[in-house]
Order: sequence, then C-alpha cells, then structure tokens
Amino acid sequence: MDALECINTRRSIRKYLDKEVSDDLIKQILEAAMTAPSAGNQQPWQFIVIKDRKLLNKIPEFHEYAQMCKEANLAILVCADTSSLRHEGMWEQDCSAATQNILLAAHALGLGAVWCGVYPREPKMNGFTQLLNIPDKIIPFSLIPIGYPAQQSGKVERYKKEKIHFDRW
Ligand SMILES: Cc1cc2nc3c(=O)[nH]c(=O)nc-3n(C[C@H](O)[C@H](O)[C@H](O)COP(=O)(O)O)c2cc1C
Repeated sequence: MDALECINTRRSIRKYLDKEVSDDLIKQILEAAMTAPSAGNQQPWQFIVIKDRKLLNKIPEFHEYAQMCKEANLAILVCADTSSLRHEGMWEQDCSAATQNILLAAHALGLGAVWCGVYPREPKMNGFTQLLNIPDKIIPFSLIPIGYPAQQSGKVERYKKEKIHFDRW
C-alpha cells in the first residue's frame, strides 16, 4: 500500500477480531509514532502500551466514547512530558502528529485503530492518571485502541473545493 492509499483508505475501526497483535507490529507502530514531526524536534511524547485485559475493560468507566477497548487487543495512550518543553504551546500539535502516524501505521500493517480524544477533558485525563499511575507533568493526550479489524473500511469522499482558498480568503 502506498502512502496516499494508506491516508485515503484509513477509517476509524471500532470492532476487532479476537486475535493477538504481535510485539513486532506494536514496535513498528511505535517507531512510526516517534518518527512524527515535532516543534524544534522536541519529541515531547511518551507512550503507554496497555495490553492488560483488566485495564482495557476499565477504560470505558471514565471514557464513555472508548467502549471499543473491551474488544481491542491493545491500546496505546499517547502522553506528553511537559517537564522539559523547549517550545511552549506546541506539544498538542506534536502529540497529534504522533497519533496520526499511529493510525496510519496500524492501517498499513493490516490493523484497525481509532483516535479517542483525552486531552483537554479533565475527567478522562484524571481517569488515565489514576488507572495507570501516571506521574506529575505527564499529560494523557490521546488513546488509540488497536486490533485486527472486524469491520469493512474504505475511501470516503470528503474533498470540498469550497474549503480551499488560493492566495487570499
Ligand atoms: C480529536 C479526536 C477525538 C476523537 N475521539 C473519539 C472518541 O472518543 N471515540 C471514538 O469512537 N472516535 C473518536 N474520534 C474519531 C472520529 O469520530 C473519526 O475520526 C471521525 O468520525 C471520522 O471518521 P474516520 O476516522 O473513519 O475518517 C476522534 C477523532 C479525533 C480527531
């Protein structure tokens, strides 16, 4: 699959097969995440790979839009380490780029994934901080449940020429 096909056919996948994702695939996904661009190359991200079934099942108790964690083989929590930022106000964009790379890498590897928003919703951030013993200065940003897809996906047409402006608004 080439890059454009990967970008254009990625869809949010919320239903998964009961099939384990190998550590090798998880490593490839995390390599893609850490290859993302970041402000001044500050790479503020940290990743928590959640594979423990008991932990995965608890997530929907404080994140109502992450019910798919009960079926997912694993989930990756993208966090920001705000203790040593060199470019204030940019870490959200850095972590978004890493999150999108995770989605695209999962799709390229034949897996399904979905971006579940965490930051800036305090109850969700606190839920992860307590569940996973996350220290101060580490901010939970996004959760990406991952598994082998049990639903179809494909390209959708979202191109709207009225959203594009040349030279001036
Ligand atoms: C910041 C952000 C937060 C999101 N949060 C959730 C979520 O909590 N639960 C969920 O099922 N999907 C979530 N999504 C996925 C969107 O619903 C999805 O990307 C959108 O409907 C477009 O569908 P597609 O990803 O299949 O193209 C989120 C996406 C983004 C970018």
